[in-house]
Amino acid sequence: MSVSTPTGGEGQACNHPVDRAPEHVRAIAPYVGGKPIEEVARELDLDPATIVKLASNENPRGPSPKAQAAIASAVADLTRYPDGNGFALKAALSRHLGVAPEQIVLGNGSNDVLELATHAFLRPGDHAVYSQYAFIVYPLATKARGAIGIEVPAADFGHDLDAMQQAISPSTRIVFVANPNNPTGTWIPGDVVERFVAAVPRDVIVVLDEAYNEFLDPAEQTHSTAWISRYPNLVVSRTFSKAHGLAALRIGYGAMDAATADLMNRVRQPFNVNSLAQAAALAALEDAEYVEESRALNRRGMKQVEAGLRALALRALPSRGNFVLFEVRDADDVFRALLRHGVIVRPVANYGLPGWLRVTIGTEAENDRFLAALARAIDAVSPSTHAH
Ligand SMILES: Cc1ncc(COP(=O)(O)O)c(C=O)c1O
Repeated sequence: MSVSTPTGGEGQACNHPVDRAPEHVRAIAPYVGGKPIEEVARELDLDPATIVKLASNENPRGPSPKAQAAIASAVADLTRYPDGNGFALKAALSRHLGVAPEQIVLGNGSNDVLELATHAFLRPGDHAVYSQYAFIVYPLATKARGAIGIEVPAADFGHDLDAMQQAISPSTRIVFVANPNNPTGTWIPGDVVERFVAAVPRDVIVVLDEAYNEFLDPAEQTHSTAWISRYPNLVVSRTFSKAHGLAALRIGYGAMDAATADLMNRVRQPFNVNSLAQAAALAALEDAEYVEESRALNRRGMKQVEAGLRALALRALPSRGNFVLFEVRDADDVFRALLRHGVIVRPVANYGLPGWLRVTIGTEAENDRFLAALARAIDAVSPSTHAH
């Protein structure tokens, strides 16, 4: 049998392989991340050292000195592949979370864990349920599998769990819940989340994304990994990118029933988490004091930013994360004016929130810089619309 393919020669239609790619892949809108400092410096001819990036919810302190020391010593051996099973880190996480090592899946960022869940459980045409304004990777990862995203209208910018429960149908294979959610900062108390998990059919995976868990007041933190023995369909995902300050190394994890972990590990790249990340995460996990200090810094910074936004007569959503969503007229123009002042925040029009901007809580000095730049930006963009 001979198979002829269009060559693009004279008289023939010039097909590009992209034209033959699955429609559900071509329909995906590219992910828009926070603008990197170097890019802003290049585009606006600014000194990178003067730019403040408050656009991707990182820890402004960076990683703990113990994690930095662990990275420095792990650099001595970059020849070998990393431990594809993450033995030491899983052992430590197992103690930390109260689950067995076989119940843990390590990810190249917790993003990887979210994607692995869709990889393992979604067929084309299956449904994944998530909230309006929920973390954008849920629709992205769902659509990449040719599955159908069921977006449930938010209630007061947060998840409407009753409506989400009602949206579950026999076609539903995954439900995503972000707690706290990014970009809204909304949060649901643990007992309410557990009631929801209990109400979801046991053959539907619930991905409970707790990327910002460590920023919660300890009294509000839920021991959600303890629920896994009762709900074998629960996947709790967390990350070292946020409170632990290791975003660049890309490491996160999911805790779940061992059979689910086994399935997700089958579709995982064998060496998805590099050795520097594993060493750093191990040290970071053991430095509870650093996380506590970071939480305290965030709490102070949150108050500072909230007060500053109030002084500018801007509406902000109460947030349990390390970021705040605030409403501003001409958000796009204000975003660009802030860039010219060397402050990078995050537009969220791609979340269906065109009149809002999200700012990450920085150090006290960075927050001051942001608030001062914001006052100037608003004045420049729409001089008469804010109070002094
Ligand atoms: C709610 C939420 N989940 C997951 C992630 C993924 O983070 P990472 O892949 O760095 O662990 C983020 C990052 O912004 C997030 O906001």
